[in-house]
Amino acid sequence: MTPNNTVVVTDQLESVLALSMAAFPEDKLFLVVDQNSNRFCLPLLCDTPGIEKFKKIVIPAGEENKTLSTAELIWLFLSQNGADRKSLIVNLGGGMVTDLGSFAASTFKRGVQFINIPTTLLAQVDASVGGKTGFNFNGLKNEIGVINQPIQVIIDTRFLNTLDHANFISGYAEMIKHGLIHSQDHLAELRKFDLQKPDFLVLKQMISHSVLIKNYFVEKDPQEKGIRKALNFGHTIGHAFESLSLTQEKPLLHGHAVAFGMIAELYLSHMICGFPDGNMHHLSKWLISVYGNYRITPDVYETLYEYMGHDKKNEGKRINFTLLCSAGEVQINKNCEKSQIFEALDYFRELNN
Ligand SMILES: NC(=O)c1ccc[n+]([C@@H]2O[C@H](COP(=O)([O-])OP(=O)(O)OC[C@H]3O[C@@H](n4cnc5c(N)ncnc54)[C@H](O)[C@@H]3O)[C@@H](O)[C@H]2O)c1
Ligand SMILES: [Zn+2]
Repeated sequence: MTPNNTVVVTDQLESVLALSMAAFPEDKLFLVVDQNSNRFCLPLLCDTPGIEKFKKIVIPAGEENKTLSTAELIWLFLSQNGADRKSLIVNLGGGMVTDLGSFAASTFKRGVQFINIPTTLLAQVDASVGGKTGFNFNGLKNEIGVINQPIQVIIDTRFLNTLDHANFISGYAEMIKHGLIHSQDHLAELRKFDLQKPDFLVLKQMISHSVLIKNYFVEKDPQEKGIRKALNFGHTIGHAFESLSLTQEKPLLHGHAVAFGMIAELYLSHMICGFPDGNMHHLSKWLISVYGNYRITPDVYETLYEYMGHDKKNEGKRINFTLLCSAGEVQINKNCEKSQIFEALDYFRELNN
């Protein structure tokens, strides 16, 4: 299944890439990888005709390197190796590489065309699709960036064989979100899937389904003026958990924070939009069974609330949420009272004790 013309889910990666490369001069091909995608993922491309023509830059792996100085490294490499507006840049890696490589491509000489080949589940179903690019700055996530679409996204599940379980379920959380905001069918297939023994054929279909949902919202509203905000479900409280965890012993991976955020925001959905409580309890218990417990105490509520106040999605002082009336029925721009948010945190806290 092919979600749209730009996104290709395939097990013919080498031939899809070879075809796309053919439209560019062979001395104008550039590849961005990080240390891990260089080691684990690039070998899967070795049979691509002409792969040796690529000039490659290996950037340091990890969110802490999604910075201006790494973007500079890419620009310098492009500049020193004769990249120009006729070039093609291929970003091979997780969301860190696709976000940063896409940003570097979008800004170099006012924009060079680029292809994303996402190698983590999170990047396949979320980060590499939709055109958001950028890096972290001044302690804030994705503070600098532009929205610019890749010419193609090529998804191959074979990359996921080397991904650890924690990163795997991190991406899975975004798929669950897609099910919750748009499709009971997708949600049902995700709940049935055996995460301990993933069946890659089934997974491939579910990834296509998930990307279709992301694309549906992106195409309706590329600049996130309205309905694209549906994709923020779980993220207002999720980002606050993510920020809080950075000050603690063990930072949460993005998807894990979003899974926990979805639990609290399901409770808000119940209070404000009438999301059925039986379903809310089942979903919350399932999420805890997949992501484990995250224990919080009431003394961090104010800090979490502060973090929610910093969210880019807020307009003025009010804290803006995307909530659900039921699975598949989304409401954007819902403002919640502080007391309601604290009640949702109580629900989350009690569930984890
Ligand atoms: N642009 C968007 O719309 C969007 C959406 C969601 C997330 N994001 C961004 O995506 C980033 C997170 O993405 P991520 O979770 O992919 O993180 P990541 O790119 O840091 O990858 C996680 C780890 O897995 C390694 N890795 C990558 N592919 C691998 C493979 N196949 N086998 C083994 N190891 C592999 C990476 O080197 C890294 O160490 C964040 O920066 C986030 O802001 C962007
Ligand atoms: Zn997310």
